[in-house]
Amino acid sequence: MKKTINVLVINGPNLNLLGTREIEIYGSLSLSDLLEKLEIESKKLNIVLKHIQSNAESILIDKIHSSKNTIDYIIINPAAFTHTSIAIRDALIGVNIPFIEVHISNIYSREDFRSHSWLSDISQGVISGLGIDGYTWALKTIYNRLIKNKK
Ligand code: DQA
Repeated sequence: MKKTINVLVINGPNLNLLGTREIEIYGSLSLSDLLEKLEIESKKLNIVLKHIQSNAESILIDKIHSSKNTIDYIIINPAAFTHTSIAIRDALIGVNIPFIEVHISNIYSREDFRSHSWLSDISQGVISGLGIDGYTWALKTIYNRLIKNKK
């Protein structure tokens, strides 16, 4: 029997502005363009995709909590919360769901304050600077780890 895996994509603050926000850094595709691409990719990989974008830290934390027992893997772009949120770090540790941290831009080539992440050391891996393709690479990695390499 084919195993289905459930992946939650979390996008943090201001990512609802994708496509109109700092296009030279984040590109011209919108959040719904990104989700459309991910939906197509996840169907090919037999992954059930859920998504949340919020500008509120508490909403993201509540979503992480309610994912315990239903979500196998998280792909998270915490956006600015990357650099500030010990609360999101604690939530991810609390539910013990493996996650990949994704950034559209290369956070190491920008302002110094972006080089520190409160999540990277507890993540399975970090993808930064590959544009929105980073989310697709994260999905492929999850497929390889949870399905392909288990066959
Ligand atoms: C970001 C990088 C963060 O530093 C920034 O605050 C964002 C987006 C990225 O995807 O490159 O909002 O996470």
